[in-house]
Amino acid sequence: MTNFSHQSVLLCPTLDWLQPKEGHLTIDGTVGGGGHSEAILKATTSGRLLGFDRDGDAINAAAERLRPFSGRYQLIRADFAEMEHHVPSGSVTGVLLDLGISSHQLDTPTRGFGFESEVLDMRLDTRETVTAAHLVNELSLEELIDIMRRHGDEPEARRIARAVVRRRQSIPFQSARDLASFVESVCPRRGRKSHPATRLFQSLRYEVNREPESLQRGLKAAMNVLQPGGRLCVITFESSTDRLTRDFMRAEARDYDVPGEVDDPMVRIPRAPRGRIMTRKPVLPDETEIKANPRSRSAHLRVLEKL
Ligand SMILES: C[S@@+](CC[C@H](N)C(=O)[O-])C[C@H]1O[C@@H](n2cnc3c(N)ncnc32)[C@H](O)[C@@H]1O
Repeated sequence: MTNFSHQSVLLCPTLDWLQPKEGHLTIDGTVGGGGHSEAILKATTSGRLLGFDRDGDAINAAAERLRPFSGRYQLIRADFAEMEHHVPSGSVTGVLLDLGISSHQLDTPTRGFGFESEVLDMRLDTRETVTAAHLVNELSLEELIDIMRRHGDEPEARRIARAVVRRRQSIPFQSARDLASFVESVCPRRGRKSHPATRLFQSLRYEVNREPESLQRGLKAAMNVLQPGGRLCVITFESSTDRLTRDFMRAEARDYDVPGEVDDPMVRIPRAPRGRIMTRKPVLPDETEIKANPRSRSAHLRVLEKL
């Protein structure tokens, strides 16, 4: 696996915030092609790295790339939400989550992430059984609407879901290409820059991989494994995961708990803050990076320091 293509995003600012330390352990929760992991290992001569990825191809590609650092790293094919099962609490100086999918995953037609894919899969971990095809062909009308609204803020959720349900009765969807062009026929572009199936595809990917749940659990796990002064760096590419990260960091930095859904000052439960927000506004790629790597355009980096 030598042709794994992915350009790491916000590499320099991430390294500046993570500050890998000699002799200490950093976790890369989303190893991908190993770009951030390599930079983390290069930054010290004795720092260690524990890397996670749900994708076996990514783990194999990263193992090859990181071979020069043999003895200083370990890679595990698992969800980063499981990191607590692999390291003691308070033992890590930095955790990086570079969310979403790699260019390699997006551009590999047999994975089903891209609009041109010949399959309808979207599993990050191919050992799991539920694919996007299962969801598109088997969810009820209301379930399809729900996932598009919840994960994709899709304003046309009902129109798209109705059309999908009608069409699959005669011909089930078997490829991403078929699904994408069908959605385009239902909701024409009309000058829009993004493909009309973008939100549906994002919703399916989130649902297939339970990505929002993993992120919620992963953020909590990261705070548990970090030592005081350790930093959690999260790079997001989509507004819903950025919002989730921002809200989590704000809640950690507060000096009270909110018992219900709404923050009612009358019922707040005082406690010490657990973290300090280091990036009041998210760090964004500069023009040079966007020009060199247009896929970095929507990246947001947020950093929280554990107290
Ligand atoms: C944007 S890529 C990471 C790229 C990497 N930072 C680099 O420089 O090459 C995201 C990676 O995270 C993995 N991933 C996404 N969600 C995950 C999760 N919950 N647990 C583990 N890996 C995950 C994907 O399989 C993908 O390989």
